[in-house]
Amino acid sequence: MSQLDQKSEAWSALFSEPMSDLVKRYTASVFFDKRLWQADIAGSLAHAAMLAKQGVISATDLADIRRGMEQIRNEIASGAFEWKLDLEDVHLNIEARLTQLVGDAGKRLHTGRSRNDQVATDVRLWLRGEIDLIADLLVGLQKALVGIAEKNVDVVLPGFTHLQVAQPVSFGHHMLAYVEMFARDHERMLDVRRRVNRLPLGAAALAGTTYPLDRESVARELGMEGVCQNSLDAVSDRDFAIEFAAAASLVMVHVSRFSEELILWMSQNFGFIRIADRFTTGSSIMPQKKNPDVPELARGKTGRVVGHLMGLITLMKGQPLAYNKDNQEDKEPLFDTVDTLKDTLRIFAEMIDGITVQPQAMEQAALKGYATATDLADYLVKKGLPFRDAHETVAHAVKAALSHNCDLSELPLAVLQQFHPAIGKDVYDALSLRGSLNARNTLGGTAPAQVRAQIARHKQRLAG
Ligand code: ARG
Repeated sequence: MSQLDQKSEAWSALFSEPMSDLVKRYTASVFFDKRLWQADIAGSLAHAAMLAKQGVISATDLADIRRGMEQIRNEIASGAFEWKLDLEDVHLNIEARLTQLVGDAGKRLHTGRSRNDQVATDVRLWLRGEIDLIADLLVGLQKALVGIAEKNVDVVLPGFTHLQVAQPVSFGHHMLAYVEMFARDHERMLDVRRRVNRLPLGAAALAGTTYPLDRESVARELGMEGVCQNSLDAVSDRDFAIEFAAAASLVMVHVSRFSEELILWMSQNFGFIRIADRFTTGSSIMPQKKNPDVPELARGKTGRVVGHLMGLITLMKGQPLAYNKDNQEDKEPLFDTVDTLKDTLRIFAEMIDGITVQPQAMEQAALKGYATATDLADYLVKKGLPFRDAHETVAHAVKAALSHNCDLSELPLAVLQQFHPAIGKDVYDALSLRGSLNARNTLGGTAPAQVRAQIARHKQRLAG
């Protein structure tokens, strides 16, 4: 271990007093950054292999380092490893144990590197793995949504604008809107991954190093797509973390919008769906209650993830080049973002399977709101009226239906004809919910034929 990286004890030549316990606790990160241990060991092994290849350390040193790391791996995995606050972070803890186990070879590992490039490498390696898991979970969630869409293509839901009944839509179509959102999220995650997957190691503290490093070979060894090309930027860049947090925030915003709909739909006033009991909770005082806790919590946790994005982006504001200790604060928001996102995506995929749709309640609600008024206008346009005149004519018809407290389709033909003589018997096809749905047969529209085509496209896209 390099002398300067050994906390207060090793620095005693320069420092006239030890660090106070409070400062030790304040500056240490080991109790949260120990989660990076696998990435830390992988990075160290790749670095050591390259040092040996370049003749900076001997083959024996490399063998010792590998042997020591193997044991450390087992110790950490089995819970036997003793994490020490005095050793500040995951990097110093592992390096100190390595030196304890293999002696001088352990002390040579840190040649040509610094914790500054080491930690940036570790976070990137770790985050890359998490992004892959999140991408898979996003696929799982899309599959669940496509599944419920497929079962409910012909179920009619009142589509809303301004939360006022607007036009009938297929429930399947509505579900596929969320599939589009999560498909974009998946795409965004893979795009962020490209910038996460670049290697800072070899930038050393900030300026590069005097040893003949082969950074490209380390990048290849670690499966990274490239090397960070400027040492100052390499150690201080956290854009990748911010980008990830932004992509994660958008996922949560989509989850939150969906949650809001589930909560509304589950309320007595809508009664559009039921959610399986295992995703709801009761009340401690009101015996009749079944509360949608899971969607509500997901909506709440969206604030938490967006908060982490704000935390990370503010963390970087005003930092001069290059590394500053501020950057240690990138970890907890990132970790919590990943944990929250993964749990949420897993639960939602499961919960969707536990949704029961109530088609009659949805149809009743669509019938209450004059959802086919636009269809009557379109009908009149087909009979030769300019659209603006048709719009006005239908407004009168809706007013009449309101005063009779019935739907447009329940008005007798003679009454409808008072609004325009061109109205014939065939108007009732246009005024039915299903007629309205079938008529919207353009690409991306809600006609069941279109919805089925989209489902087929998604299934093919998500297969494998
Ligand atoms: N624990 C530190 C972090 O998370 C590691 C880098 C420390 N570097 C330093 N020069 N103090 O950022």
